[in-house]
Amino acid sequence: MEQKETPHIKPNGVEIAETILLPGDPLRAKFIAETYLDNPVQFNSVRNMFGYTGSYQGKKVSVMGTGMGMPSMSLYSWELIHVFGVKNLIRIGTCGAIQDQMNLYDIVLAMGASTDSRYVHQYDLPGEYSNIASFSLLEKAKKGADEKGFPVHVGNVLSSDIFYNADSTAIEKWRKMGILCVEMETAGLYMNAAYAGVNALTILTVSDHILRNEQTTPEERQNAFTQMMEIALGLA
Ligand code: HPA
Repeated sequence: MEQKETPHIKPNGVEIAETILLPGDPLRAKFIAETYLDNPVQFNSVRNMFGYTGSYQGKKVSVMGTGMGMPSMSLYSWELIHVFGVKNLIRIGTCGAIQDQMNLYDIVLAMGASTDSRYVHQYDLPGEYSNIASFSLLEKAKKGADEKGFPVHVGNVLSSDIFYNADSTAIEKWRKMGILCVEMETAGLYMNAAYAGVNALTILTVSDHILRNEQTTPEERQNAFTQMMEIALGLA
């Protein structure tokens, strides 16, 4: 049988599931596979971008790192969709909050992803494109979070190419438009999914508050991560 591979993903015949969880950090992917999946098998180690396939409550699920930023997220998600047939892509990550009503460790479901990236220009659209989540995944995730009583915000996030911003007024402009938080990958993921007609959703926990100087503890970080994982695995 012909074995599919790409320059960045070489599974050596290990199957990649139709539903994949996508943390930025490949070591997070390893931790998730070892902690939450039954019988995980590693399918990728190219550039140490670890990927695994296992099962959760009897359903096949994969998990793989994406790296940071839209170029990295976009190339991995493109290959997963177009070469390996992945249909449901769920990013799990962290973000910096920019609204007063948000607190550290809150969960954000990215209904939309605004961006300062030029990634969308490849489509040469005659206007501004709105990057949105899969409604079915979003609805299921919100329901799951509500049932568990987790603090969750649903709205527009900023997928930025810039972590260290030379323009100190930029974040304030986005804040005034109701953007909840800043991260660096979701707009690229949502565009790739939309163009291919597959489903994507980003679930984030607030790791820092860009407008406030607040401390985090390892226990609280772990608790927030566990809540995010419970929501994400509920989508499998
Ligand atoms: N900016 C961009 N990405 C992030 C941040 C941030 O402040 N925090 C977590 N991911």
